Amino acid sequence: MNTFQDLLTRKLAEALAAASLPQAGAVTPATDPRFGDYQTNAALVLAKQLGENPRALAQRILDAYDRWDLCEPPTIAGAGFINFTLRPEIIAARTAELLRDARLGVAPAESPRRIVVDFGSPNVAKPMHVGHIRSTVLGDALARIAIFLGHDVIRDNHLGDWGTQFGMVIYGWKNLLDRAALDRGAIAELVRIYKETNEKVAADPKVREAVREELVKLQAGDPENLSIWKETVDLSLKEFEDAYQVLDIHYDIQRGESFYNDRLPAVVERLLNSKIAEISEGAVCVFFRDIPELAEKPAIIRKSDGGFNYATTDVATVDYRIQDLKANTVWLVVGAPQILHFKQIIAIARREGYTADLRHITFGSILGEDRKLMKTRSGENVPLRDLLDEAVQRARKIIEEKNPDLSEPEKIDIAQKVGIGAVKYYDLSQYRMTDYIFSWDRMLSFQGNTAPYLQNAYVRIRSIFRKAGQEFTAPAQIALGAPEEKTLALRLCQFAEVVPTVLNDFRPNVLANYLFELANSFHAFYEACPVLKSEEPARGSRLALCELTARVLAKGLDLLGIKVPEKM
Ligand code: ARG
Repeated sequence: MNTFQDLLTRKLAEALAAASLPQAGAVTPATDPRFGDYQTNAALVLAKQLGENPRALAQRILDAYDRWDLCEPPTIAGAGFINFTLRPEIIAARTAELLRDARLGVAPAESPRRIVVDFGSPNVAKPMHVGHIRSTVLGDALARIAIFLGHDVIRDNHLGDWGTQFGMVIYGWKNLLDRAALDRGAIAELVRIYKETNEKVAADPKVREAVREELVKLQAGDPENLSIWKETVDLSLKEFEDAYQVLDIHYDIQRGESFYNDRLPAVVERLLNSKIAEISEGAVCVFFRDIPELAEKPAIIRKSDGGFNYATTDVATVDYRIQDLKANTVWLVVGAPQILHFKQIIAIARREGYTADLRHITFGSILGEDRKLMKTRSGENVPLRDLLDEAVQRARKIIEEKNPDLSEPEKIDIAQKVGIGAVKYYDLSQYRMTDYIFSWDRMLSFQGNTAPYLQNAYVRIRSIFRKAGQEFTAPAQIALGAPEEKTLALRLCQFAEVVPTVLNDFRPNVLANYLFELANSFHAFYEACPVLKSEEPARGSRLALCELTARVLAKGLDLLGIKVPEKM
């Protein structure tokens, strides 16, 4: 199904050709609805190129072409914009089509890609904390949208499950472990033994040596140390799984750093053989003398003591994803502190001749009310599970006040959807690069651009159908008499224009904003146009607008990983 934007873009191309003008400009939704539904800056762009008067050029385009069909005769405004107002019956016909389309008008991508999305990726033996929200929620939303657009997506959890910290963990496990505490909360106990070992290392060189030996033994494949390592990984994964369950996050594969371990020597050999890497002060390094921002920052892929590191693993990871998984696109959804690291990794991949589209998708931080990185009172990272539990509890309290008559199972279900939805939506509705202040009151508000506001719009529509006592049946015709009806219908048609643009710069906030505006248009329509009390055929037509709004809201929120309750 072509969107109105596509159709008008094609018409504009024909018009420019008819006026013997070069192709220029774009068709975009109107910035001011008083002038129309869409506009083009073509005449302005051409005027600059050709040194002519923009309004005169706009007139020339309109004089040369009269087959705009889907809209009223276009008008010229301001410095030379051409404005298009769609004919109501065209919008009505498209709206009726959308009601029959499970994809709600969204066309699948013309050239589907195989995309590995690396997101979340927490470190084992450490708790997931508030800092993991952005990567997890953003990566999941991008994956959902890519899947909906027909891409072949592999969601990969690149767990930090290998590395020097395991020397400490294993030493602590052997000498300090409290089994009962481990059963109560595995990661908390792993953190405790890690911290205590760390303190001992600082105070006692003998412990430092013992820790080093445990690490060497692990790396050499010592069975006891391997089995302790494996157990800490499994225990951590169990706790991560619990958070993923609550968040409704799913991975297709979880290839942690350890998965790449036995590939690392070959990676270093290869980079040395191809002269991409060189030996410098006993270490194997890749220099980027030709890339100004990296000129002073070589990547070390084998330390002078022979150990491999994070960069080596990521080079092996690129190989695996492109060669074994056959990905042509990789999205690395990882915070801004790793920008330099991934610049190096991507530069190495280029030198190796890989042409796949490798993207580091970064994001800002979550701040506390004091505008500093969000921490607990005692200065620790806020554990993710505590935060999610609090979200659900707070949502429950609000729902109990608003609707005390709900049954207990309904309350549990709604609190879950509203609380978790609020946390996710608050994150996704911000431009990903900006830091934001975590605020329970704002994210759980029923007013403004929040999940509860959108969920409530959906619920309101469901209650209209409950009141009507009927299932939805598509009417013979959609009629858009009132301006609020036309505005709402046009917005519904624009879902298909918005969804693909999210992936242009990885901005789910574009979709969030659209949903917010859709809900606003729905409320304006609902104020102005009685639904159940109106006569046929208006009644059926308005019910159809309600139904389609509910479907688009639910689908849009689903693409952001957010569920809708039927009541709240
Ligand atoms: N585990 C890492 C961290 O917590 C993130 C891993 C990101 N992915 C990657 N391929 N390096 O910082």
